[in-house]
Amino acid sequence: MRVLVTGGCGFIGSHVVDAYIREGHDVAIVDNLSSGHEGNKNDKARLYIADVRDAILEDIFRQEKPEVVNHHAAQISVPLSVRDPLNDADVNIKGTLHLLDLSQRHGVRKFIFSSTGGAIYGDAEQVPTTEDYHPVPASPYAIAKFSAENYIRFFGEQHGLRYTILRYANVYGPRQIPHGEAGVVAIFTEALLQKKLPTLNHFADQPRGMIRDYCYVKDVAEASIIATAKDQRGMFNIATGVGTCTLDLYHLTLASLRKAGISLGPEYDEPQRAEARDGDIRVSTLNPAKALKELGFHARHTLEEGLSETVRWYLQKQE
Ligand SMILES: NC(=O)c1ccc[n+]([C@@H]2O[C@H](COP(=O)([O-])OP(=O)(O)OC[C@H]3O[C@@H](n4cnc5c(N)ncnc54)[C@H](O)[C@@H]3O)[C@@H](O)[C@H]2O)c1
Repeated sequence: MRVLVTGGCGFIGSHVVDAYIREGHDVAIVDNLSSGHEGNKNDKARLYIADVRDAILEDIFRQEKPEVVNHHAAQISVPLSVRDPLNDADVNIKGTLHLLDLSQRHGVRKFIFSSTGGAIYGDAEQVPTTEDYHPVPASPYAIAKFSAENYIRFFGEQHGLRYTILRYANVYGPRQIPHGEAGVVAIFTEALLQKKLPTLNHFADQPRGMIRDYCYVKDVAEASIIATAKDQRGMFNIATGVGTCTLDLYHLTLASLRKAGISLGPEYDEPQRAEARDGDIRVSTLNPAKALKELGFHARHTLEEGLSETVRWYLQKQE
């Protein structure tokens, strides 16, 4: 199939592109390289360096005639969305709307959207949270993602556009940058490799840090392959359903690095401490049952396996 992946030079998008190419699809990428880079690009994919809001996208759709649009480009920082909600909305709402309009006019068969279960549900009363829980987004980033979801649903109802919304948990793995929605694994790993003591953000009454559902990027990429092949319309949590606190994640990352032969003495056993940041959510885990039942998706990697592959990638990068 002809697939257009936006954000295909970024962390998750580049793994999605790799998975599509592996499955024999024909892939074009639109990316403005604001946080992604060309080094992540799969050699077999064509890259258009453009912003998803640019008028030139009309020409790209005409040229590429995509059957599937897989939208991963976004402003991805929660703190930045708090500081500059206008820019966040411009990229994450207007950018998505532009792609929806193009998709509808150019006969795209399916629209796949990377949304965020990690942020959209807010401090949910129900954890692990199911898709039918009404989102109370706690940051402009999450508000924009929820708004984009609603536009997608509207285009589905009004114009018959088929779509799948993937609400990701906290994604981690090779190629992640430390500044994104859920960069904590990248932050810890990069700091420890530079022999710096990382900082753990926490609420005063939750000293072990936030609780999150960490999902390995290669499992997440697989969800796009399944969504492309299946016809289920709707939204799906892409997650493990397992909650891990930041302190346990820190110790697991430390253990992975030590196992890989990195010498880190007892002075690294405890991270430094800082207060929670604006927009931080205390507990976020997602119920993956619907994705399992309707898509047959399940996250295959344990956190230990995913962390050890991630550490291996960092070490190869250093060679
Ligand atoms: N990382 C996570 O845990 C997580 C969780 C939930 C949802 N998501 C979503 O997954 C998607 C990918 O996130 P990521 O973590 O891989 O981030 P990333 O920054 O690595 O990837 C985003 C890519 O989009 C590109 N981009 C940004 N703005 C653009 C624009 N206006 N036009 C064209 N290209 C643009 C960037 O250059 C980058 O290559 C995003 O939509 C994000 O909101 C990520």
